Amino acid sequence: MAGSVVPASTGISGAAAVLRRGGLVAFPTETVYGLGANALDAQAVARVFEAKARPSFDPLITHLADAADLPGLVGPLPAMVSALAERFWPGPLTLIVARPSTIPTIVTSGLDTMAVRVPDHPVARALIAEAGVPIAAPSANRFGRLSPTRAEHVVAGLGDAVDLILDGGPTRYGIESTIVDARSGHPVVRRLGALSVEEIEEVVGRVEIELGSSGLPAAPGTLAAHYAPRTPIRIVIDSASAPVGADLRGYLAFRDRPPGDYAAVEVLSPGGNSTQAAAHLFDALHRLDAAGLTEILAERVPDTGLGRAINDRLERAAATWRPFDQGSNTVLVI
Ligand code: TXA
Ligand code: MG
Repeated sequence: MAGSVVPASTGISGAAAVLRRGGLVAFPTETVYGLGANALDAQAVARVFEAKARPSFDPLITHLADAADLPGLVGPLPAMVSALAERFWPGPLTLIVARPSTIPTIVTSGLDTMAVRVPDHPVARALIAEAGVPIAAPSANRFGRLSPTRAEHVVAGLGDAVDLILDGGPTRYGIESTIVDARSGHPVVRRLGALSVEEIEEVVGRVEIELGSSGLPAAPGTLAAHYAPRTPIRIVIDSASAPVGADLRGYLAFRDRPPGDYAAVEVLSPGGNSTQAAAHLFDALHRLDAAGLTEILAERVPDTGLGRAINDRLERAAATWRPFDQGSNTVLVI
């Protein structure tokens, strides 16, 4: 039945069969839930774009069950790409490689490069292995909206547009993978994500961060407006600078409850830990978004570790709600 939710513990074979016959399956990864289709089947992939209302210029990530499957798909890898794959896969790192001719261009939005990763989640890996094909999977949300970290978020956002939803509980990292282009030998981060820049730098030394500027962004998920709740969201420096008074304001705090009177408050990490805060970010925003608020005030978090990726997402969420900002690549996705 369309959109049915099945526990991951019993649903993997059935879900793999759905993928093999061209269907769409939402499944848990260690980052966020993905909306999967057979990456070798252009028609199945077209359904992913349709289900998400995703613009055709925004390419998908191809997911593999095992790092050992990559050379078979794309041929020999540049040394730095192999080194990063070896160190961080399975895990929340997406690498850019040359697109092999077996992957239809709809997956890569016509680019001659392909984003690929091996998720560190037993359900995702078992599903991909059993499907026996690479799986193209964006986050399982409508384009521009909050990413799903629970099966319930997928149901609320995509519902019947998905053939089957595998419920594997809440995801561990709660934000998307870090995207790195290491083909030249000098790694460039294209999207901040669940693998921190510091962790990558421990292995390869200093990396560049290029999140897209004018024109087409380096990774289209880096559009200035993205990850947005339906409720207008605004960034505040801390609770002392936040306006108070309106009774339907919500507040997204990092570690301390704000002193003001808010209709709803979410604290991301009472211990002040950015990894824990990342894990709760989208879940907290989904709850605030469902609370019937007129506005969400969101506090910036310290800019270290996963805090950078959190701030990046908060800024893009808030950008959706700012008037068109000329001179940047802001796109209103409402
Ligand atoms: O954690 C994740 O990466 C999740 C889970 C499901 O794996 N997936 C995810 O997919 O976040 P999505 O579609 O929401 O974001 C994919 C990002 C987009 O920003 C897209 O532009 C970028 O990957 N991307 C895809 N192919 C690319 C390429 N060839 N070069 C640069 N960026 C690319
Ligand atoms: Mg996404």
